[in-house]
Amino acid sequence: MTGLFITLEGPEGAGKSTNREYLAERLRAEGVEVVLTREPGGTPLAERIRDVLLAPADEVMNPDTELLLVFAARAQHLAEVIRPALARGAVVLCDRFTDSTYAYQGGGRGLSLERIAALETFVQGDLRPDLTLIFDLPVEIGLARASARGRLDRFELEGRAFFEAVRNAFLQRAEADPARYVRIDAGQSLVKVQQALDTLIPNLLELIRG
Ligand SMILES: Nc1ncnc2c1ncn2[C@@H]1O[C@H](COP(=O)(O)OP(=O)(O)OP(=O)(O)O)[C@@H](O)[C@H]1O
Ligand SMILES: [Mg+2]
Repeated sequence: MTGLFITLEGPEGAGKSTNREYLAERLRAEGVEVVLTREPGGTPLAERIRDVLLAPADEVMNPDTELLLVFAARAQHLAEVIRPALARGAVVLCDRFTDSTYAYQGGGRGLSLERIAALETFVQGDLRPDLTLIFDLPVEIGLARASARGRLDRFELEGRAFFEAVRNAFLQRAEADPARYVRIDAGQSLVKVQQALDTLIPNLLELIRG
C-alpha cells in the first residue's frame, strides 16, 4: 500500500499553513490518516537546519550552501517521516517541498535548474508529489500578510524582484505539468480559498481510495 503525497506551495503569506490545517481536518473527517509536516524541517534535525536557513545573519550564505542545506534537511525528512508515512498508506500533507527549491534557489537566487534537478534525483530517487497545490497571489499581498505576522526571516528580507521571480517560477512549474499542479487563487478571502479547496476534496478522496 502506498499513500498519497500532497504538497502545498507558494510564497510567504499565501496561506499554506492556514489551509493545510483545513485540508487535514476535512480529510480526517473522512477517516483518512493524515500526516501534517513542513519543509524545511519536519524532524528535529531538519528543524535545526531550518533554523540555520531562516535566521538572518551577518555572514552572507552562499547560494550553493543554501541549496545543499535545503536538500540535507529534505533527505532527513524523507527518511524519517515522509517515506515511512507513505509506506503505511497515509496521506502526507507537506507545507513546501522541492517546488520551493526550484522557486527560491532557482528563480530567486538564480541557481541552475539542472543542478537542482540533479540533487532532486539524488535525494528523492523517483519520489515526486502526487499533487501540488500552488497558492498564488500578488507579491505585495503576500509580503503584507507575512510582515503583519512579525519579525521577518532571512528570505522575507529579500526585495520585490526576488519574490516576483519566486512567483513566476511556481507558475511556470504549474503550467508545465497541469496533471500534477492545481493553482489556487490565494489573494481571495480565506472563505473563498477554502471553498476552492472544498471542490478538490472529492477528487482527493478518489485518489486516496484508488
Ligand atoms: N485568504 C486569506 N485572506 C486573508 N488573510 C489570510 C488568508 N490566508 C491566510 N491569511 C493570513 O495571512 C497570514 C499568513 O498565512 P499563512 O501563515 O497560512 O501563510 P504561509 O503560506 O504559511 O506563509 P509562510 O510561507 O511564510 O509560512 C496569516 O496571518 C493568515 O491568517
Ligand atoms: Mg507557513
